[in-house]
Order: sequence, then structure tokens, then C-alpha cells
Amino acid sequence: MENSGCWCDGIHKFIFYIGLIILFRYFFRFVFCIQRYFFRKGHNVQERYGQGSWILVTGATDGTGKATAIYAAKEKGMNVVLVGRNKDRLLKAEKEVRTANSSIDTRIYEFDFNKSTEIKDFMKISEEFKDLDISIFFSNAGVMTTKCIRDLSLEEIKEMTETNIHGPSILTKIFTDRFAKRDKRSAIMIMGSVAGCTPLPNNSQYGATKAYLISFSKAVGYEISDKIDMIVSTPGFVKTKLNGYAENPLAVSPTHQAASLFKDLGFERQNMPIIGQEFANNLLGIVYSLSESLGLAILGKIMIQERKEIETYWEKQEK
Ligand SMILES: NC(=O)c1ccc[n+]([C@@H]2O[C@H](COP(=O)([O-])OP(=O)(O)OC[C@H]3O[C@@H](n4cnc5c(N)ncnc54)[C@H](OP(=O)(O)O)[C@@H]3O)[C@@H](O)[C@H]2O)c1
Repeated sequence: MENSGCWCDGIHKFIFYIGLIILFRYFFRFVFCIQRYFFRKGHNVQERYGQGSWILVTGATDGTGKATAIYAAKEKGMNVVLVGRNKDRLLKAEKEVRTANSSIDTRIYEFDFNKSTEIKDFMKISEEFKDLDISIFFSNAGVMTTKCIRDLSLEEIKEMTETNIHGPSILTKIFTDRFAKRDKRSAIMIMGSVAGCTPLPNNSQYGATKAYLISFSKAVGYEISDKIDMIVSTPGFVKTKLNGYAENPLAVSPTHQAASLFKDLGFERQNMPIIGQEFANNLLGIVYSLSESLGLAILGKIMIQERKEIETYWEKQEK
């Protein structure tokens, strides 16, 4: 009898200490989260990556790309290369960047990820700017067509694959090699999405492209961490044309998104723009871990609603 009492005591103590460790872990995670979202200032970009260096931004003609180009120029004093698929839109965005900070330099480059898919096309981007000290590459261009696989055309699947996976992978390799020759640290920022954190019915292709980017960024980031800071951003809703300027209460402005990315650069492997989106994503992760079917059903419904909202937005634009 005495022996069995000892045995039970041991089990109780074991459970107690494991519980305590889990509690401490969550407590420290919470404290760290508060520090990260409300008190962190971000690195001094000029000091860390080189005085007068450049950022190259893809998809710089609108949304988060344009906002990040403007933020980098205005708040970080960086020179900016804007990459986009439309010359007029590029010139317009370039003007906005120069208005934000007239003392920096800018260059533009026309490139369509859905049309230029050969390796030599990608090499040309870097070669065109071989005279510039580019220290940050921001792979931002992306497209989303919120449909289930039955409704998606083959062209839409190709476009999402070329723009969201093929381009970012090849350019990351090109810039990794280029950055290896720099004396200072460099950075690669990849635009993922919360859509890649869990399987996303009724937006499956887009979600899968972003899941690829999250996995790719974290693994590559580990491989090159001696010289390059790599971060993947996984926002939920940012108010841009991609999602018909979402009315979602957790949606942030593209400028807020840009600021949060710079704040986390060099500290984190993954970025979320606000604590509310981080909590919502964690909650969804818990639902998925309890019942994958329930998680799939909830997100499948949300995506049907999102598709309707985007279609309504574009119908209004066409009128
Ligand atoms: N908005 C959100 O809620 C949200 C959330 C998570 C992640 N993201 C990601 O954020 C990134 C930027 O999206 P956004 O929300 O800012 O949307 P956006 O306003 O539509 O901007 C997308 C940018 O990518 C460019 N682009 C699209 N296809 C291209 C192609 N084939 N070749 C070259 N450039 C191309 C667009 O050029 P044009 O100006 O010519 O259209 C535009 O500059 C995307 O990777 C998206 O997946 C967005």
C-alpha cells in the first residue's frame, strides 16, 4: 500500500511540474507578444544593412508593395527600385515614393511574373541594377482568385503558381547569391499570407501557394541566417484591391502592414501586422488541431463569403 502511495505522489508531481512548465511557456509567450507588438522599435536599417543602400520591391505599383516602397523611402531613408508589370502605374508609384522623400533615389523595372518565366528574364532584373547596392529584396507581387478548384480556369492556376511561387523562389536564389558578396548584412522579405497557415477550401490554390512560401522562407532563412535576415509576412486582411478593400474589423492599412514588417525584420522569422490577427490565427490553429473537418468547414464558408464580397466590389468598379 505504502509503495503504491509513493507511485501516485510521483505521478501527481510529474503532472504538476509539466503543467507549470506549460503555464510558464504561455505566460512568457504572452509577455513576449506584448513587447513585440507594442514596444519594439525595429532595427536601424541604415546601420544594419548599409548607409544609402537600396530596397527592391516587386508588385510595387499598388497595395502593400507600394506602401512598403513609400515607407522604406520616407521612414528608413532607403533608395527604392520599383518592379511592376505596367509602366504607367510604375511611374505613378515612383512619383509617390519621391514625394514621400525627395532626397532618395528611385529606379523602375517592368516585369510581368506571368509572362516572363525564363531564368534569363529573372537574371536580367539583378543585372540591370548591378551598379546599385541593393540590401533588401522584398518579394511582394501576388495574385489571388478566390474560387474552388472546379471554378478556377487553368490560366488562373498558372498565374497564381507563376506569380506566387515560381518568381519568388527564383528571385530569392538570385538575391541570396548576390547578397553573399556584400560585407554588410542583407535582408529578404517574402509576402506570404495567413491563407497559407491552414488549408483553405474555396481558395485552395492561393492558400497552397502561400503555404509554400511560409515553408520555403523559414527553411531558407535558417540556411542563410549568417548573412541575411529572412522574414515571411502572413497578414490576414490588408485593405487593398486584392480582397476588394475588405471591411473586416481586423483589416489593417497597407502602411500599417509595411511598418510592422520593418519592425519585425531581423528579429522574427514570421510577421503578423496586429496582435488581433495573431490571436485569430492561433484560435483557428486550435480548432484545426481539435477537428480538421470543423476547421475546413469554417474556413470554406468564410471563403465563399469573401468571394462574394470581392465580386461585389469589382461589379461596383465596373459600373
Ligand atoms: N490584401 C490582403 O489582405 C493580403 C493578405 C495577405 C497577403 N497578401 C499578399 O500581399 C501581396 C500584395 O497584395 P496586395 O494586397 O497589395 O494586392 P494588390 O493591391 O492587388 O497588389 C498586388 C501587386 O502585385 C502586382 N502584380 C500582380 N500580378 C503581377 C504579375 N503577374 N507581375 C508583376 N506584378 C504583379 C500588382 O500589379 P498591378 O498594379 O499591375 O495590379 C500589384 O502591384 C500579395 O502577395 C498578396 O498575396 C495580401
